[in-house]
Amino acid sequence: MRHATPALIARGGRTRSNAAVADVVEISHNGCAVTKETIQMLPSQRALFEIPRQICYLNAASYSPLPLRTLEAGRAAVLRKGTPWTLKASFANQQYERARLAAARLINAEASDIALIPSISYGVATAAKILPIAHGTRVIVLEDDHSSPVLEWHTRAETEGFTVETVRQPGDGDWTSAVLAAIERSGAPPVSLASISSVHWSDGGLIDVDKVGAALQQQGAAFLVDATHSTGVLSTDVKRLDPDFVIFPTYKWLLGPYGRAFLYVAKRHQGGIPLEQTASGRRNVRAENAVYFTDVSYVGDARRFDMGERDHFISMEMASIGMEMMADWGAPAIVQRLTMLTDRIAEGVHGIGVHVPQPHLRAPHILSLAFKGGMPAGLVEGLASEGVYVAQRLGRMRISPHVYNDEADVDRFVEVLTRRLRADM
Ligand SMILES: Cc1ncc(COP(=O)(O)O)c(C=O)c1O
Repeated sequence: MRHATPALIARGGRTRSNAAVADVVEISHNGCAVTKETIQMLPSQRALFEIPRQICYLNAASYSPLPLRTLEAGRAAVLRKGTPWTLKASFANQQYERARLAAARLINAEASDIALIPSISYGVATAAKILPIAHGTRVIVLEDDHSSPVLEWHTRAETEGFTVETVRQPGDGDWTSAVLAAIERSGAPPVSLASISSVHWSDGGLIDVDKVGAALQQQGAAFLVDATHSTGVLSTDVKRLDPDFVIFPTYKWLLGPYGRAFLYVAKRHQGGIPLEQTASGRRNVRAENAVYFTDVSYVGDARRFDMGERDHFISMEMASIGMEMMADWGAPAIVQRLTMLTDRIAEGVHGIGVHVPQPHLRAPHILSLAFKGGMPAGLVEGLASEGVYVAQRLGRMRISPHVYNDEADVDRFVEVLTRRLRADM
């Protein structure tokens, strides 16, 4: 298993080459290259999806299309729900454990450290119930981070007597330095927790979770990572990083359905009280027993945090398929492909009046364009009218390719954007 990104930089992928092979250099914290290996760039996986050639879908950070296999599994699963007498007794548990293992594999966790949950906000609420935040301490969040890793702490701050410190969006785009400065600010109250995304959803800014994790550890503070925009694409190793909580959904980068997400809970927190009180979280509360509440003590691992009504067999299997595909391709090969595509866009839009963040400060798979004087009204809708799909996020244009995109998509995006911007001048 490769080490945690962002220490992993795909060098060959940062050229405009179509080369299928590129050197990957692992950069240590002091900026030195420490290892080198050759990674095959993942070829386009478009054939595994049903995407018409004229559709240029560059919006995985909002929601991805489903692979054909996942669509097929979803149809079969709906039929299965229509004929429940065909389900074997062992079916349910196989579904949970398949999904749990697939999620664990993506972050190098053990399956027993993963809980089945429906959303990031559910995971954060679970973490907040487990983790006491000491009176007089600070919880660090990012400005304009997605609401899910932020609002729970705002809601609790006043009654629990801590403050929420918001790290402002840095003018130079360097989120990691801004977060480190906040953690280490002298004279400030102690930090109890950072609850932050590993990649900023709106500007694609990359947060070096290794550096932030080390700084938090030095202060004895906890680390909750909303890994929505990194799991599966950027190599993550919880054994090395040792975060307290890592949470990710499947409907974006993991090519899965809505309503399926996963919560990694460090072993030191697995004795906590779950958000919901379920039979499955207890050792022996079973409808089949003669005595229903035979043993109400909690199960001993992260399975106790599984959501109620986890028996969602339609979307559970669909979620597993996307995660398994991503793990089989491997983050280094995926990131090579997405780096090649975002770099090609960055080069292509040069000189048309947009600002692109520097490569080392942005996630390799998300490109956020800022426009001089703001984004022209109707631009994103205009692109969509030509079959080119991107997102408008906090005044910028967010472009997020995935494994089904190829050079033709990217070139088409650049051509349509350039033409529309010139027509606006
Ligand atoms: C960084 C980030 N976190 C969380 C979410 C979704 O949160 P939830 O699953 O609570 O709806 C998104 C969705 O866009 C996101 O971008």
